Amino acid sequence: MKRYQDPQWVSSQAISLDYNYVMADFVGDRGLSSAELDALTPKLARVHEDLQAGRESGRYAFLDLPYRQDDLLKPIRRLAKPLLEWCWEFVILGIGGSALGAKALHQALCHPQHNFLPVGRRKHHPGLWVLDNIDPDFVYGILDGLNLKRVAVNIISKSGTTAETLAQFLWLYRLLASRVGGEDRLRERLIITTDPVKGPLRRLVEQEGFHSLSVPPDVGGRFSVLSAVGLFPAQVVGIDVEELLAGARFMDQRLKASPPEENMAYRLAAIYYLFYREKGRPLLITMPYAANLSALADWFAQLWAESLGKRLDLAGRLVETGSTPIRAVGVTDQHSQLQLYSEGPHDKLITIWSVDRFQHTLEIPSLFDSLDDMGYLGGHTLNELFKAEETATAFNLMKSGRPNLTLTLPEVNPFTVGQLIYLLEVTTVAAGGLLGVNPLDQPGVEGGKRTACALLGRPGFEEYRREFDQTMPKLSKYVIK
Ligand code: PA5
Repeated sequence: MKRYQDPQWVSSQAISLDYNYVMADFVGDRGLSSAELDALTPKLARVHEDLQAGRESGRYAFLDLPYRQDDLLKPIRRLAKPLLEWCWEFVILGIGGSALGAKALHQALCHPQHNFLPVGRRKHHPGLWVLDNIDPDFVYGILDGLNLKRVAVNIISKSGTTAETLAQFLWLYRLLASRVGGEDRLRERLIITTDPVKGPLRRLVEQEGFHSLSVPPDVGGRFSVLSAVGLFPAQVVGIDVEELLAGARFMDQRLKASPPEENMAYRLAAIYYLFYREKGRPLLITMPYAANLSALADWFAQLWAESLGKRLDLAGRLVETGSTPIRAVGVTDQHSQLQLYSEGPHDKLITIWSVDRFQHTLEIPSLFDSLDDMGYLGGHTLNELFKAEETATAFNLMKSGRPNLTLTLPEVNPFTVGQLIYLLEVTTVAAGGLLGVNPLDQPGVEGGKRTACALLGRPGFEEYRREFDQTMPKLSKYVIK
């Protein structure tokens, strides 16, 4: 029996939400009253209906990914297995929703030194390198450090048209072909993850016979971490993807079974919405007290920003809405950002991600006891100090009238990370419902993509090139050289 099939273990791993310190009882007038939360109930009921309807129609197909274990995992396992025999380094070419999920899973669920451990110590799972930037020095530098004969490349692009990913692919294709002895041998080393029927990468797969995986058609980039986009890299680096999906299912079941006021996703969405819309707090800080969750906070920042930062609402009215997600890390940013959070403008809502149990307990020895400033630490553990710092941060923020809330993971493991991912996806869509915007599109990002393509002379983009060129004559006015 897998541990996620044991009800006792499962209930010991449930994520919890403590929002005491956002309430007026603790932070005074700057906080929320129960009446304010209750007043959102009718709106949340409509959000709930939309989610249900969207789930049934397939619009929110990401909600059902955790239940598609068999059809998702079979092709992933088939492609991952042979890689373990020869591949030491697994390189992802992708960006945004096609990169951040895999990066977050790798950081959260693998050894912090995973990429640098001898292959035997990583049980023959390759290291993971995510090229989500086209900075030429970065791209060259990562590849320069790898044994190219042992590299497999996963090109991930839902649309198959993202210029950054395609350009990296073309560059790397030529480089690898020359190192591994020709295009035929290279074929074994490439896996393309893209739309099952549409787009240039799918056409390439059909034309060249490359290995491929599919992104379900109705699942957009930033909601795709629990599809082949995140699961294949996770499987390759040795993460228990079944447990990850089980965690997501567990969260779904909990959310479904909860009345609205106890539904963690709706409560979280309501709090985030109210502080942004009613309490003048446009900055949404996520502060994991777990170094290995910082990339997951980055993943959430993208999910939130791209889903909710919108010019128009669903009725086409100009709203220019959305709070700004920011990632901080405890305790590191206590010595960087916290001063601003504690005493600066009252424009932030802080969410701490807390972890109850770490894999390791590090005792602090009692040494140099005669020094008072050091002696008191002896006999404690780093774990106790970490927890004390986190508790103190939340408490002192509250004391200075700074609302903050805490999401607690009993441990960091695939099951709890699966829960957290699912929770944050539902929270984001629910917040979209409260804001009245479409959380699934990203028209602002498309604008930038169009201009970049126009600048490189892509056919069909001449109009955007002309638009850009019209600004050129003015561009020297405010430049200091
Ligand atoms: O969330 C999104 O939709 C975006 O961040 C995309 O993932 C990103 O733009 C990359 O797109 P694609 O996967 O089509 O290359």
